[in-house]
Amino acid sequence: MAEPILEVEGLVKHFPVRVGVLFKRTVGHVQAVDGVSFTLNKGETLGVVGESGCGKSTLAQVLMRLEPPTAGVARFEGRDIFGMKGAELRKLRRDIQIVLQDPYTSLNPRMTVGDIVGEPYEIHTEVAPKGDRQRKVQELLEIVGLNPEHINRYPHQFSGGQRQRIGIARALALKPKVIVCDEPVSALDVSIQAQVMNLLGELQAEMGLSYLFIAHDLSVVRHLSNRVAVMYLGKIVEIGTEDDIYERPMHPYTQALLSAVPVPDPTQRGRRDVIRLTGDVPSPIDPPSGCRFRTRCWKAQDICATEVPELVPRNGGHPAACHFAEERAVV
Ligand SMILES: Nc1ncnc2c1ncn2[C@@H]1O[C@H](COP(=O)(O)OP(=O)(O)OP(=O)(O)O)[C@@H](O)[C@H]1O
Ligand code: SF4
Ligand SMILES: [Mg+2]
Repeated sequence: MAEPILEVEGLVKHFPVRVGVLFKRTVGHVQAVDGVSFTLNKGETLGVVGESGCGKSTLAQVLMRLEPPTAGVARFEGRDIFGMKGAELRKLRRDIQIVLQDPYTSLNPRMTVGDIVGEPYEIHTEVAPKGDRQRKVQELLEIVGLNPEHINRYPHQFSGGQRQRIGIARALALKPKVIVCDEPVSALDVSIQAQVMNLLGELQAEMGLSYLFIAHDLSVVRHLSNRVAVMYLGKIVEIGTEDDIYERPMHPYTQALLSAVPVPDPTQRGRRDVIRLTGDVPSPIDPPSGCRFRTRCWKAQDICATEVPELVPRNGGHPAACHFAEERAVV
């Protein structure tokens, strides 16, 4: 049975837009995340996909307690994340780790790999006594496929893929239960992407990790994800199992994203529906009324401008936030 490890309900994060010499006057809000709900189960990967600016990183930052939420609830193992303090918050900071996109800027260039990977032990001294740290760090380097003898090297002496392995080793140092992966392979060459994804898959199988895996492309998350949530302008527009999303997408936005995914098999390419989205993503400061996707949707009707489509199961299937949800096999 699926056992939830992370539950998110109605999460909202609005950033004030301030103007004036002292930025004192608030003239609006960037609705970066606007009512997001989902559950991540133990040992599962939930992919979160959407275009640049749709609120993926903001969602991650709020769940990591790096930004305060505007509203909403998040629970880790049943306990309210946003109410945690003291020892409980310290424990949360061990249990949830993040791996960031850019292996070039997320590692301190003046620190050795050993210091970078072992830094979490400085803060959480209870996990590894000082005398034991070097051994633990070398173990971690080995686990992620790096040479443990390179412990005294600096980040610039590694390739992009190797640097992302350093970031992963560091995330593993405190034996977390959940890892938020914020586009961990987007900056890497395609061949290296596959290696890092395979590593993440192996680590998950061995350590029983749960991943919230953020990407802007549906093809990246497919292999690893048990379920996928598609985001548009701060909201989840569709969520379902891998098969639901890739074989039976119901939301026009998901269908459009899928039609842009590269098809590796040349004999299948001609069989794909091509859906070209027109127009730009509207500003999250002043999103369209009703359905936020309506300004780019070829199916939009009057009701789409007046009623927000709820994210509820449609046509006896999985949840999709569209008044006119219907299955359409794209690939
Ligand atoms: N600290 C902040 N202050 C004001 N606005 C912000 C802040 N952080 C993010 N935003 C805005 O919130 C929206 C969502 O940004 P976010 O970085 O979460 O998107 P994203 O989906 O991660 O995009 P990308 O794929 O480019 O990483 C954007 O409009 C962004 O400009
Ligand atoms: S609710 Fe209307 S505008 Fe929104 S995706 Fe569905 S058809 Fe398109
Ligand atoms: Mg981002």
